Amino acid sequence: MNGARGWAAVALLISVAAGCERPLKPGDPLRGLNRAEQDRFARGKVVFDSTFTPEKGLGPLFNATGCGECHEEPAKGGSGDEVEVHATAFKGRVCDPLVEEGGFVIQQHTTPALKQALGIDSEPFPPSATARAMRTSPVVFARGLLDAVPESVILAYADPEDKNHDGIAGRPNRFTDGRVGRFGRKAFVPALDEFNAGAFSAEMGITNPAVRTEETIGGKPIPAGVDPVPEPEINQEELDLTDAFVRLLAPPTPLKLGRDGRRGRELFSDIGCAACHVPTLRTGDSPIAALRNKEFAAYTDLLLHDMGPDLADICLGLAKPSDFRTEPLLDLRDAKHFLHDGRAATLEQAIEGHGGEATGARDRFKGLPAADRAALVAFLKSL
Ligand code: HEC
Ligand code: HEC
Repeated sequence: MNGARGWAAVALLISVAAGCERPLKPGDPLRGLNRAEQDRFARGKVVFDSTFTPEKGLGPLFNATGCGECHEEPAKGGSGDEVEVHATAFKGRVCDPLVEEGGFVIQQHTTPALKQALGIDSEPFPPSATARAMRTSPVVFARGLLDAVPESVILAYADPEDKNHDGIAGRPNRFTDGRVGRFGRKAFVPALDEFNAGAFSAEMGITNPAVRTEETIGGKPIPAGVDPVPEPEINQEELDLTDAFVRLLAPPTPLKLGRDGRRGRELFSDIGCAACHVPTLRTGDSPIAALRNKEFAAYTDLLLHDMGPDLADICLGLAKPSDFRTEPLLDLRDAKHFLHDGRAATLEQAIEGHGGEATGARDRFKGLPAADRAALVAFLKSL
């Protein structure tokens, strides 16, 4: 054995023994994957990062040509600068996702063939919509862990009538079949595999074994000959591999906290941020050992909260226009904008943008001495 390698091996053994594992970077897979899972993660990343063309089924309506075009910073699975458009109709108690008018994601691009046939270069905005929403592309790290949190854990944080009188009344969104929703800013979609399959269809116009039909063009059928690729445009294996890549993406390891950061972490709990941004959640059973019974830094309760009229946009499922899922606080160190539409350029602005049920926490933040506010922000930047 060569000397340097020998010492490196000893150093590795010591650090493993001391429990100081190498930090996970954004885009890294979870620790503890077996060979088959590592292989699927790597092959899934290739599908996630591939570029679809009309010949491969892209469109005829689409927002981007691949998952990796929107989820790419600072690594695949990360965030992106694409901002998409959603629209629904809020009819008092019920929310209409406008399926008959082409669904609630309003695609911003068309293939050349559709443009030639109809003369449009984006999906027409649905005439029945009562509101428009802008959605920035979030990181999808740790979504496999969030998917593995049992419904009972989420429901245990719910307090819809605010029985404990803390001004916070978290409640679950529910899908049309009654399952608890958790993905998307409005927590409408219950399961990660469903979100991923839906993204192929809604973002790229790629039909797949879970979403077999193309969306209409604002309710009208696709003109003949415009998208000749037969459905499904990707097969089960490609869908499953993409799902494996997203599912096995790890949360990046938080940076080491200095004195300020540690003070900030205490303040985060003391002033009530942790009432919604629950610092750790625990997964339940999973066929994947790396996802089974794991405690992880989530900073969300996966519940809806009324955030006040300034943030309000569309309804979705049981979520009213002003209701949003507590955003998991992940990889904030790399984020360039915050809140669902990216309106906040700094973490201070993001906190000051909180209203509704978060008004108390926001005002306590604003009332802190400048050094404490800076400490709280330093803590957030370690995530
Ligand atoms: C045009 C850009 C774009 C493309 C392409 C795209 N996404 Fe997304 N993705 C988004 C946006 C925007 C959201 C947030 C949606 C919302 O908040 O309702 C999102 C949300 C997600 C989420 C849920 C995150 C959460 O916090 O609940 C997952 C998972 C996801 N995308 C996976 C994928 C996969 C897999 C693909 C490819 C099949 C894909 N995305 C393609 C923009 C994109
Ligand atoms: C009542 C629940 C609630 C409380 C209390 C709360 N938040 Fe939030 N937080 C949310 C929701 C919901 C969102 C998503 C809002 C949106 O996207 O428009 C959010 C978003 C954020 C974001 C932006 C994340 C991103 O990636 O865009 C940050 C940062 C944040 N909160 C920090 C805090 C801090 C710090 C506190 C304490 C001062 C706090 N929050 C208190 C519910 C809450």
